[in-house]
Amino acid sequence: MSSKPDDDYLAKLTSSYSPVYGQAITIRPMQPEDLDIETEFVEGWSAETRYNRLFSTTVRTTPERLKQITRIDYTRDMALIATLMLEDREVQIGVARYVLRDDNKTCEFALAVADAWQHRGIGRALMLNLIDSAAAAGIETMVGDVLASNTPMLHFMRSIGFAIEAAPDGPEIRRVSKRLTPVAAPIQEKDAPAQNP
Ligand SMILES: CC(C)(COP(=O)(O)OP(=O)(O)OC[C@H]1O[C@@H](n2cnc3c(N)ncnc32)[C@H](O)[C@@H]1OP(=O)(O)O)[C@@H](O)C(=O)NCCC(=O)NCCS
Repeated sequence: MSSKPDDDYLAKLTSSYSPVYGQAITIRPMQPEDLDIETEFVEGWSAETRYNRLFSTTVRTTPERLKQITRIDYTRDMALIATLMLEDREVQIGVARYVLRDDNKTCEFALAVADAWQHRGIGRALMLNLIDSAAAAGIETMVGDVLASNTPMLHFMRSIGFAIEAAPDGPEIRRVSKRLTPVAAPIQEKDAPAQNP
């Protein structure tokens, strides 16, 4: 798929809900036009969030890298963002993304929510939407690496059915993985039971 999918495709992956004070949160696929709000979001992370997401407090996400990660292929990779309107301006408060591995069956995910918006169900909503979109794309397994010290995230992963194991990269990392439930394909005419005449 090109980096500019049609409006119908984007609309199918867009949803809205109000977890706090009636504030409407939209979850939708990221687009290249979101470079500014993604940059503001990433630059707003606290040291703790940066460490838990990037496993480092010193790594800087360069402008080139930000440009790269806002150009989504929607086939080999996907990014869903959570946004809301603040003073007539759309602000990004979370992102969940996956990248398909070369085996075409497994994807690696990452998740982050802005510090001020954590613990309000936004990470859960993003993650469940990402799992649905990966399953709908026919991906079989979702995996991710989480710091062993990131107990809230590990707790969350377990609560949505991820298995947690040691990771090859060392004792400070845990590998989390989940088999995705295949999405039933619509019944094709040739598969439909024969009709009695
Ligand atoms: C981890 C993170 C994505 C969770 O997002 P969130 O919006 O704060 O999470 P939610 O409010 O949706 O909560 C989801 C679950 O996480 C767990 N959780 C979240 N915060 C927690 C806390 N302070 N203590 C214990 N559990 C917590 C709970 O299991 C919760 O489920 P519940 O609501 O049924 O109790 C967010 O805290 C974050 O961005 N952290 C920094 C980056 C990071 O750690 N990314 C993961 C590595 S890829």
